[in-house]
Amino acid sequence: MFSGVQPTGVLHLGSYVGALRQWVARQDERDNVFCVVDLHALTIPEAVDPQQLKERVRSTAAQFLAAGVDPEKSVIFVQSHVREHSELAWLLSCATPLGWLYRMTQFKSKSEGRESVGTGLLVYPVLQAADILLYDTDLVPVGEDQVQHIELTRDVAVRFNNLFGDTFVLPKAEVPEVGARLMGLDDPTVKMSKSIAVERPGHAIQLLDDPDTVRKVVMAAVTDSGRELRFEHASPGVRNLMTIAHVASGRPIAAIEAELEGGGYGTLKKLTVEAVNEMLAPLQRRYREYMDDRAGLDAVLARGAERAREIAGPTLRRAQAAMGVG
Ligand code: TYM
Repeated sequence: MFSGVQPTGVLHLGSYVGALRQWVARQDERDNVFCVVDLHALTIPEAVDPQQLKERVRSTAAQFLAAGVDPEKSVIFVQSHVREHSELAWLLSCATPLGWLYRMTQFKSKSEGRESVGTGLLVYPVLQAADILLYDTDLVPVGEDQVQHIELTRDVAVRFNNLFGDTFVLPKAEVPEVGARLMGLDDPTVKMSKSIAVERPGHAIQLLDDPDTVRKVVMAAVTDSGRELRFEHASPGVRNLMTIAHVASGRPIAAIEAELEGGGYGTLKKLTVEAVNEMLAPLQRRYREYMDDRAGLDAVLARGAERAREIAGPTLRRAQAAMGVG
């Protein structure tokens, strides 16, 4: 299993549900590699603040650990510490038709309206393919917005294998049954996203929000003028809150529906606030412990990079040999 998260600072609940929570739930089942993808955070160079980026990388790694990713069971590392990622990305880019990259919806939306677009933004999914293929990955647990990139990874692997002989394992995306696409609390028609959250405080719940902020954001969440509290029939805003309550409390949706019977949206919001704050309190305590122990965190990441290299090195050499370089 391989997955990655960008070092965007504090993660929001969408990334927790789409990624971290799935990683933790499955980490006993197989060999896992989890990565803070800092090279992916360079694609809009105007927005890069080098000092801040380093700190965000550490903070993101601490959030992995605080969410329950166990460095004894899983490899946790920083992408730029393992140079095999950049090297394989070049080899793969030579085998990736340009048209495949222009078709990516994330490229279309992120390049829209920009005067100048860096080449990195276009080849971003090739670097992502390198991340995944280096570890002979079967499964990639992600939110729905990443599925297109995982499918592209598979296509690139098939093309490479056809051109140069069997080299890569073909990976598959795995999205959670509920919560694969958590929506904005202030607008349940759009995905909860970091870029909107920096502009609109009511948009997302962040993993490091204090209880009062969580209460304000949830109580102001957009619902509708009705009273429908059955998940199947509920409006997008209500379904989103029920999803959050389910994920945060760990209780089945049916149990939440039963508890809300006869109640209204106010009851749902209160229940959601309590569940989220109960979930976040221990996570935030652990986060502070990891952030206070700088040497300990650095040691986890150094050991993670070492173990990652042990797997990635032979895969890169296999790809180089297949192409006649190295
Ligand atoms: P990123 O950093 O944008 O998001 C990290 C993970 O969080 C999921 N996610 C969501 N899930 C549900 N609802 C939401 N509103 C929501 N918002 C984000 C994302 O689907 C993702 O799983 N390109 C990737 C990072 C990456 C990667 C990889 C992922 C680089 N290499 C290799 C997997 C494998 C990205 O930008 O994710």
